[in-house]
Amino acid sequence: MDKVMIFDTTLRDGEQAAGCRIGAAEKLRIAHQLAGLGVDIIEAGFPCSSPEDFEAVRLIASEVRTPVICALSRAVDTDIEACAKALAQAARSRIHTGIGVSDIHIMGKFKPEKYGKTLAEKRETTVRMATAAVRKARQYVDDVEFYAEDAGRSDPAFLFMILEAVIEAGATVVNIPDTTGYAVPSRYGTLIRSIGENVKNIGKAIISVHCHDDLGMAVANSLAGIENGARQIEGTINGIGERAGNGALEEIVMALNTRQDHYGVTTGINTREFYRTSRLVAEILGITIPANKAIIGDNAFSHSSGIHVDGFLKERETYEIMRPEDVGFPKSRVVLTARTGRHGVFHRFSELGITLSEDEKEQVYARFLRVADKKKEVLDDDLIALCNDEISLQPREYLLESFKAACETGKQPSARIRICRGSEILEAEARGDGPVDAAYKAIARAAGISPAILRYEIQAVTEGTDALGKVTVQMDHNGRRVLGRGASTDIIEASIKAYLDALNRLDDFEKVT
Ligand code: KIV
Ligand code: ZN
Repeated sequence: MDKVMIFDTTLRDGEQAAGCRIGAAEKLRIAHQLAGLGVDIIEAGFPCSSPEDFEAVRLIASEVRTPVICALSRAVDTDIEACAKALAQAARSRIHTGIGVSDIHIMGKFKPEKYGKTLAEKRETTVRMATAAVRKARQYVDDVEFYAEDAGRSDPAFLFMILEAVIEAGATVVNIPDTTGYAVPSRYGTLIRSIGENVKNIGKAIISVHCHDDLGMAVANSLAGIENGARQIEGTINGIGERAGNGALEEIVMALNTRQDHYGVTTGINTREFYRTSRLVAEILGITIPANKAIIGDNAFSHSSGIHVDGFLKERETYEIMRPEDVGFPKSRVVLTARTGRHGVFHRFSELGITLSEDEKEQVYARFLRVADKKKEVLDDDLIALCNDEISLQPREYLLESFKAACETGKQPSARIRICRGSEILEAEARGDGPVDAAYKAIARAAGISPAILRYEIQAVTEGTDALGKVTVQMDHNGRRVLGRGASTDIIEASIKAYLDALNRLDDFEKVT
């Protein structure tokens, strides 16, 4: 079976996303993770664009040894020299150079007469610059990729001509970017096939696809390229990139894997690393992954409606075409809502170790529906309260008596906590990354448990510095998930209250189970 090379450009095109800037050390962290994911090529940056990007490429080239490390340049000598310098320590290196090939780019970027007076003359200049750049890059490395920028809107006859010229000049990979996301799958596929049929020396180079998502078709276009002879795909983790982004690698690779019957190709990707890679990139770039994002969104393996939940619980394959573990996703989830149905609801009760008689089931299910009509999602702690017929106002075990939190420039924040548990007084002190972290550590120490914090959110209820802060904290203790809420004008107090509220809900579990 043919192997498709996976070219990751998260650190170059991905980083071009508005508002995303990554430093060299963070890029290195991502590059190590990409190597673990098994990508064949990492495009580490654009060395000529800034000293920091130069340093990032240099660092990655000297420390990440398995994949080919690639650097981007324009068809300009100084850019190519910067790539060569930054890549000097790489085990295997590639220079990615190129130029705009559509008439829109040629006429728009090469306005001065020195590039020629007519379109034909400007096209000639373009070919000259492209071939000179490839020859220059070949002086430094054996592996040179040429990008025909805006190929998606170019005149195919001119595209074939320039590709033949750059392959003759030594390009080993020819990249056919749909730079503006204008292409549609059938036409882009035809373009790739026609390159295979019309560029005489194409046998000496690999065709690469590089698609943008302006019309939401980057993944579909990339896959159409593969169907028509491309054997390298360029994309980014989470689909990040310029404007609407690039083709999402996790989606492209999982499509190739899941529909191998159709595409008939393989990749060297360790798909179990997708989830971890996706979360690392999101965390470093400070972006939120939409819950419904294919492959790695929170809801990608969640089932909610009655028909789906019922089928899924009977046989996973009824509603899942991939296994969550194949992409490193924690596990499939049933999200309880008003539409989930009895089977899903009572399945969750039994997972929580709660056994109900038939009569109890009737009452509890009626209460479940009342709560579910008011909430987006019914959580485990709601189910516990439903059993107790105590939707709210359960007397609290843990209560805050007092706290002290200290922050000072140059010192690690600390917190001291005094809480009541029934008639006991518990006290502890801890240090943390911030006052809330310190307070949470102190409570965990005092209570003698250490649940995992899954989510922490703070919201100002009104505007102004005296606003009431509302904190929601979700925690997991031995597989039991609960939500706690707290409000106060002091956000540390609100955070402590939310944590204690969650602890009380965990405590409720102990009482019912
Ligand atoms: O989209 C594009 O054309 C690019 C090239 C620089 C490869 O990112
Ligand atoms: Zn691009």
